[in-house]
Amino acid sequence: PSTNTEMKKRIANNREELADGDAIFAEIQTAGRGRHGRTWLAPVGGSLTFSMYWSFPDGYQSMAGLSLLVGLAVCDALKEFGVNDAELKWPNDIYLQGKKLAGVLIEVEGQIGATAHCVIGIGLNVCVPDNQYDVGQPHSDLASFLGKVPDRNELAAQIIKSLWSYLPKFTQQGFGPFVPHWEALDLYGDRRIVLQMGEKRFSGIDRGVDASGALLVETQDGITRFHGGEVSLRGN
Ligand code: ATP
Ligand code: BTN
Repeated sequence: PSTNTEMKKRIANNREELADGDAIFAEIQTAGRGRHGRTWLAPVGGSLTFSMYWSFPDGYQSMAGLSLLVGLAVCDALKEFGVNDAELKWPNDIYLQGKKLAGVLIEVEGQIGATAHCVIGIGLNVCVPDNQYDVGQPHSDLASFLGKVPDRNELAAQIIKSLWSYLPKFTQQGFGPFVPHWEALDLYGDRRIVLQMGEKRFSGIDRGVDASGALLVETQDGITRFHGGEVSLRGN
């Protein structure tokens, strides 16, 4: 049903068998999940859907900014396939030509104060043409952009390699060292945005992110910080 759900089950039942970097892939994912219980649609054979395990011995607080870091790793990997202009929408989406190409879903199991056992879920549209599939919002896919279908095994290998190049440093130093790199890819950098929190809306200018991955939004009253949880960002 969902590689994230499957990985969470393994953390709950067979944690001692898991090592950092272990990953579960789905050829067919029937109940893919996005944030807030939303659905991630993955047509058979057209998507790369997988979940990687990573542990954070210092607990939840040391994971701040992880979904942003994973977005960076995916963008770096895509460059190896000739996709140089993917952008990042805070806190968890990867965009190509202004449309959603991939999403990241981070979930965590563990007690406060103890090791956080983390699931890094990634869904990437490989061959999901916009004129054939309605996923609920405009989306892009690699095949339409590149004019050929890239090999999903090679994509997976490159993304995992890229994650391995970032995660050890992130685990030790947090998101701070990655802030400039993230801001360089920010879809809405220095543009007016609207944040939706349930019924509430907040409007301002996107001024990038801080070392915890919180979004910095400027209004005439100064800078306000927003954390990922309940907030959805929209262009204005
Ligand atoms: P936000 O993350 O800012 O709250 P979002 O609309 O991106 O907003 P997510 O929970 O991140 O919401 O992602 C789930 C949404 O992604 C779904 O509600 C749907 O609109 C969209 N979606 C589902 N499948 C795909 C797909 N294969 N490609 C692109 N978008 C998809
Ligand atoms: C989002 O945009 O909200 C995140 C979408 C994440 C989808 C991936 S597909 C692999 C993994 N398993 C899931 O159920 N979700 C993530």
